[in-house]
Amino acid sequence: MIYAANFKMNHTRASTARYIETLEKRLCEAQWEERVLLFPPATALQASSGHITVGAQNAYMAQKGAYTGEIGLQQLEEFGIETILIGHSERRQLLAEEQEFVSRKFAWYKEADFTIVYCIGEPIEVRESGEEAVAEYLWEQFDGIDIDYEKLIVAYEPIWAIGTGRSATVEEIRATHDELRRRISAPLLYGGSVKRENIASISAIENVDGVLVGSASLDAEEFFAMMIEGR
Ligand code: 13P
Repeated sequence: MIYAANFKMNHTRASTARYIETLEKRLCEAQWEERVLLFPPATALQASSGHITVGAQNAYMAQKGAYTGEIGLQQLEEFGIETILIGHSERRQLLAEEQEFVSRKFAWYKEADFTIVYCIGEPIEVRESGEEAVAEYLWEQFDGIDIDYEKLIVAYEPIWAIGTGRSATVEEIRATHDELRRRISAPLLYGGSVKRENIASISAIENVDGVLVGSASLDAEEFFAMMIEGR
């Protein structure tokens, strides 16, 4: 299993450092062997150490340059960051990132040899149209994406399950991950209201190789407790 924490726009540099210290202590005590990824905000990036790999929630597809408000490879390299989230629905929706833009960003960070956690997910109206509509929508989100990239991790995050407290059901997750597995051999994460109460049933699903957690990852002890439940 892969356990990934997406802080989104939460935590500061200081609180992220404290979080990593607390979580790392627990992981050491537990002699943890599974993969742990942490995506803090850009201001809180720091070098990976111990059990925790730190990644970027976003970056622009350039080394450096005139891209006001963005960070690029130069800023990531300072911390040895080699992992990035691309295609999160919040960036697709709130920041209007189109598939064409997302796929160029993917290609650029692939060229830079990054581990890419590539996020996909359907809105509620598509889910309500049935499994076939969901599959069609999700496959379109792979337009321009190299699904055979060896450092690819896919995160399926239904938009209606993100931050709502309402996770997809085990059956919905199973059906969607089985569909994705038809063509994708990369690890498949599920995200969307994963918490301590549901992680065991989600992680037990055959084609779920990990979880991408937002709200329930914000407290280090809580996230660790979840990880234990998911093992
Ligand atoms: P929540 O766990 O808060 O639903 O967020 C999921 C998510 O978007 C992780 O990237």
